[in-house]
Amino acid sequence: MKLAVVGGGSTYTPELADGFARLRDVLAISEVVLIDPALARAELVGGVVQRILARQGHPARVTVTDSVERGAADADAVLIQLRVGGQAARLGDETWPLECGCVGQETVGAGGLAKALRTVPVVLDIAERVRAVAPRAWLVDFTNPVGIVTRALLDAGHRAVGLCNVAIGLQRRFAAALEVSPQDVVLDHVGLNHLTWVRAAHVGGRDVLPEILAAHADLLADELRLPAELMRRHGVVPSYYLRYYWGHDAVVEEQRKGTPRAAEVASVEAALMDAYADPLLDAKPEILARRGGAFYSEAAVELLAGLLGRGGPAVPQVADVRNRGALPFLPDDAVVEVPCTVTADGPVPVPLAPLAPVYAGLVAHVAAYEELALDAALRGGRDRVYDALLAHPSIGQADLADGLADRLIAAGRGHLAWA
Ligand code: G6P
Ligand code: MN
Repeated sequence: MKLAVVGGGSTYTPELADGFARLRDVLAISEVVLIDPALARAELVGGVVQRILARQGHPARVTVTDSVERGAADADAVLIQLRVGGQAARLGDETWPLECGCVGQETVGAGGLAKALRTVPVVLDIAERVRAVAPRAWLVDFTNPVGIVTRALLDAGHRAVGLCNVAIGLQRRFAAALEVSPQDVVLDHVGLNHLTWVRAAHVGGRDVLPEILAAHADLLADELRLPAELMRRHGVVPSYYLRYYWGHDAVVEEQRKGTPRAAEVASVEAALMDAYADPLLDAKPEILARRGGAFYSEAAVELLAGLLGRGGPAVPQVADVRNRGALPFLPDDAVVEVPCTVTADGPVPVPLAPLAPVYAGLVAHVAAYEELALDAALRGGRDRVYDALLAHPSIGQADLADGLADRLIAAGRGHLAWA
């Protein structure tokens, strides 16, 4: 099969190569094309990718191009993992919201909206160009904010699925704690992208989450930076993104004093590019673990194995898909992040137990925000930006929406066609 990676010059890509190599029995890839406008950087990364594959005896050929049309022609699947404006734009998302006392994050709140606005048009344009040369290709979207970008793709009629590594990260984490194989842990993981909760973890048909919480709640709470007591009482494990909601003010305090993640990542990226410049490097460098992408290659391989009919693992996989009744209190066309059965016909959510009101209220609130955010991304204009900000649960006040709208538009100049 031929796989194209848009944003293939990312420092993350060797993580993908490592997963492709290790999981070559799950997914037989014969050709990998890295597509990136930064050709020199992509060439460097492409060399590393080729060597990682070759060293592990993987036969795939790796090529690099800056042309979407050439790179995606006849691809079976296209991964989209780009970052419009790079870490510099992300630094803005993480800092100007703080001036209004709001969290600075690239996928949540005002920063997330800014990222959606500059990203959706770019991804839609790329998807159109892919469709012209590979109409049957599956688009797998890693580009954040995944919920909004995936919905944009689906609304435009693309064969798209969104993917995030939060669920697979928890699955791997629980499997390690239980000393079982990850494939044996089936999560009941529900919500929207970056707004999810694990309500159960089935091993051999039995829910072991109560045991996991009994033994590890304090440790998990530490890792997720959420209250252990809350996790014990609710009997759930939230995604660490819940901290940006449930711990909003504490995060703002911390962010005001600390180093923005974008700055940290920029220095990790510089070190990674130095490492990739070594013509002998044939394994992913240690420092790659300092990025947030752990296991994303494995999530991609498992999803693609199902989508391309190569019969991935028989267990459901968590993906970002149309709601269509999975969470009955949301519109059918919302995009939700839930366990799905994945076949060549696409992912289909498995039946879910009702979502408790303490989570459902927040999910409904954010889903409405996402709908408005997508409208603002597609049609532009200050009023649409303002409405999306007002609708966000961690903003929700007129004067905040005003201040944030001005800052978002000022920061977005150069990336927003209408601003
Ligand atoms: C996790 C999230 C991704 C996000 C990444 C950020 O993997 O699921 O959606 O892009 O973290 O990692 P970074 O190293 O860029 O901070
Ligand atoms: Mn994610």
